[in-house]
Amino acid sequence: MIYLKNAQQLDCMRRSGALLYDVLCRLREAIKPGMSTAELDVYAEQLIRKHKAIPSFLDYQGYPASICASINDEVVHGIPSETAILKEGDILSVDCGLILDGWQSDSAFTVGVGKISPEHQKLIDVTEESFFKGIRKAIAGNHIGDIGHAVQSYAESFGYGVVRDLTGHGIGRNMHEDPSVPNFGRPGHGTRLRAGMTLAIEPMIAMGDYRVAQLDDGWTIVTEDGSFCSHYEHTIAINEKGLPEILSFPGYVLTEDAE
Ligand code: MF3
Ligand code: CO
Repeated sequence: MIYLKNAQQLDCMRRSGALLYDVLCRLREAIKPGMSTAELDVYAEQLIRKHKAIPSFLDYQGYPASICASINDEVVHGIPSETAILKEGDILSVDCGLILDGWQSDSAFTVGVGKISPEHQKLIDVTEESFFKGIRKAIAGNHIGDIGHAVQSYAESFGYGVVRDLTGHGIGRNMHEDPSVPNFGRPGHGTRLRAGMTLAIEPMIAMGDYRVAQLDDGWTIVTEDGSFCSHYEHTIAINEKGLPEILSFPGYVLTEDAE
């Protein structure tokens, strides 16, 4: 069941997304070699609660933290830990979600810890750009497959693997709503996009093969071949005009694709 949001509900989602943007900016600034991912998690929960919002990941299906912190070959759902100490050269993905006045937002970024290799920086940059390739297709009248195809064809043109076992999703009063938003697909296929849809688009891109596995902790997803992986996610809307808007990146103006 897809829940379309009216203008008033979109405004609620905008407020939720704007707060999450603020939280993620502060988390990004805090990331330093020598810090543990548990410290980052404590900081995230403080920031969220200070603004009278709720960390949506905490206790979600038993998940024990407010963020996911996934290092290097960890794709997503890494559990913050006192013993996971960030070191120069790591790449860290931080995924966070919150609920403000009943409305959810979900966003993730990947960043280098200290100085990282040019290859890993390129992986991070291409993953972000693949998100922007995808969101430009999130226009009323297009299809879900147009988004996935745009993400996939861009990322694969660099020889990277596009993770398939996890996807983006609808979002609203619930963190996960229909439709599923894969990072691969065929143009013109899948659910037709409509004004009022709110989606989390979240490419997960590996330097090597796309296959992933789950660790024994029941959460952490890693690449099977051990290659580094990058994740980038925003909560977006197809707004009242039928055009894409990044709710978790307020003020960002989408330009026409160069190609
Ligand atoms: N951002 C993740 C997603 O889109 C949510 C993390 S799962 C949780 O599915 F269990 F940690 F909440
Ligand atoms: Co998500």
